Amino acid sequence: MNGVRVALGGIVKRFGAVQVLHGVDLAFEPGRIVGLLGENGAGKSTLMKILAGYESPSAGELRVNGRPVRFDGPRAAEAEGIVLIHQEFNLAEDLTVAQNIFLGHEKRRGGWLDDAAMRAVARRVLDDVGLRQLDPDARVRELIVAERQLVEIAKALSRRARVLIMDEPTATLTPGETGRLFELVARLKDEGVAVVFISHKLDEVERLTDEVVVMRDGRVVAREPTAALTRAQMAKLMVGRELADLYPPRAEVPAGAPVLLSVQGLSVPGWAQDVSFEVRAGEILGFAGLVGAGRTELFEGLLGLRERTVRAIDIAGVPCRPRSPREAANAGLTYLSEDRKGRGLHVRFGLRENLTLMALERHARPWLQPASEAAALEQAVREFGIRCGSLDVSAGSLSGGNQQKLALAKVLHPGPRVVVLDEPTRGVDIGAKREIYALIRRLADEGRAVVVVSSELMELIGLCHRVAVMRAGRLQATLSAVQLNEQELIAHATGTH
Ligand SMILES: Nc1ncnc2c1ncn2[C@@H]1O[C@H](COP(=O)(O)OP(=O)(O)OP(=O)(O)O)[C@@H](O)[C@H]1O
Ligand SMILES: [Mg+2]
Repeated sequence: MNGVRVALGGIVKRFGAVQVLHGVDLAFEPGRIVGLLGENGAGKSTLMKILAGYESPSAGELRVNGRPVRFDGPRAAEAEGIVLIHQEFNLAEDLTVAQNIFLGHEKRRGGWLDDAAMRAVARRVLDDVGLRQLDPDARVRELIVAERQLVEIAKALSRRARVLIMDEPTATLTPGETGRLFELVARLKDEGVAVVFISHKLDEVERLTDEVVVMRDGRVVAREPTAALTRAQMAKLMVGRELADLYPPRAEVPAGAPVLLSVQGLSVPGWAQDVSFEVRAGEILGFAGLVGAGRTELFEGLLGLRERTVRAIDIAGVPCRPRSPREAANAGLTYLSEDRKGRGLHVRFGLRENLTLMALERHARPWLQPASEAAALEQAVREFGIRCGSLDVSAGSLSGGNQQKLALAKVLHPGPRVVVLDEPTRGVDIGAKREIYALIRRLADEGRAVVVVSSELMELIGLCHRVAVMRAGRLQATLSAVQLNEQELIAHATGTH
């Protein structure tokens, strides 16, 4: 198959009065992998949605092999071989994995759906992305986040992309899965596919890409061979200034600090078995593990979102058995879910409603207080650096990273004693990451107990006092700061210790 060269010329995009792309010129060549970098809200996803037919440009043109094209939807772009893997999942929850993979591209034989053929292709692409165990007939609703991400990738592969755009495909993947994805991408590159890789993980950008394009405020500000840039230089191009240390200095947990969260013998059927741990005031406890190790499910069990058995849960010294996040919040524990689209945010609601929802549920006030709500929102936008055109937009229109910051502001708004954050910096740019780290550290310094579940080992190492490693639903080891290094964590997580 021949390679496809795509070019964007003078692309402008406005959402209402807000202009988010200011005349972008950019071309992608067959057999090259381009990393697309930029701060949250820089316009990366919007630009790529235009290239893949999900959004139409307000001005400018697209060319495929020099020929002007106009896409009235993603199907038209796919017909040219342009396929986008979305940052936010785009799967139909009630359909099966195989049905999702073929949605809109169903195979037919003699007018009938050819289920056997579709299942066979689904099997092959699922194997390709490493989902060997996954049943093509499973419903997407039953999958965990990482599996959904891999199904998205499998779906794109089944479309025989000539231009493959991946918008933060590794945000939910562990190092092993990421490695497998990169091997796949390298193979596609050899076959002449043009690849665009959007990521905030600069080490991955360095590893995978041939070239780097940097966007800032809706414009392309740099295009360089990857080998010519250090990670620090990439970061500087993105934020327009030098960044100091990513991680704040680690304060010691005061001797005799009280235990604020104690969990004894927590089991979540099928996911976690007999897990016990404690977190003290001022302490940050990390949870590491491979995808599927049961970390998210463990905490969902703790919050009453999944069936569980437990010997004892103490929050701030008081025994309790939360049956919902709200009950947990009443007891003093708030939770940021890893799946911000599902449980974290109400994407159709405004920013203010999202922010105050937790606090409202908690205090169960019979009336709203618009003035204090507005003040709280302004403060949160400032404190968390949420970039939004105006305060009146819906949460769903924020860029991916800014949604994450809003979700974080939301859980912290009620001022809890214990905070559980599942993947708090997923999809967040490097500047904002630094701010979130500082904030997490501040939460601990203020005497809260903090749990951070993360797939980014460096983040756990840089941030935590101790890291608990889970494998196959069991707590394998808890490492203290002096023992923390990448090899050690991986060894425990993979069972090669
Ligand atoms: N449907 C929409 N309505 C209004 N504004 C939008 C819409 N989609 C995107 N925007 C705005 O466009 C700007 C660019 O967003 P975009 O999602 O392209 O950023 P991004 O570079 O992908 O950021 P991130 O790294 O956080 O994913 C943001 O300010 C965002 O709020
Ligand atoms: Mg984006």
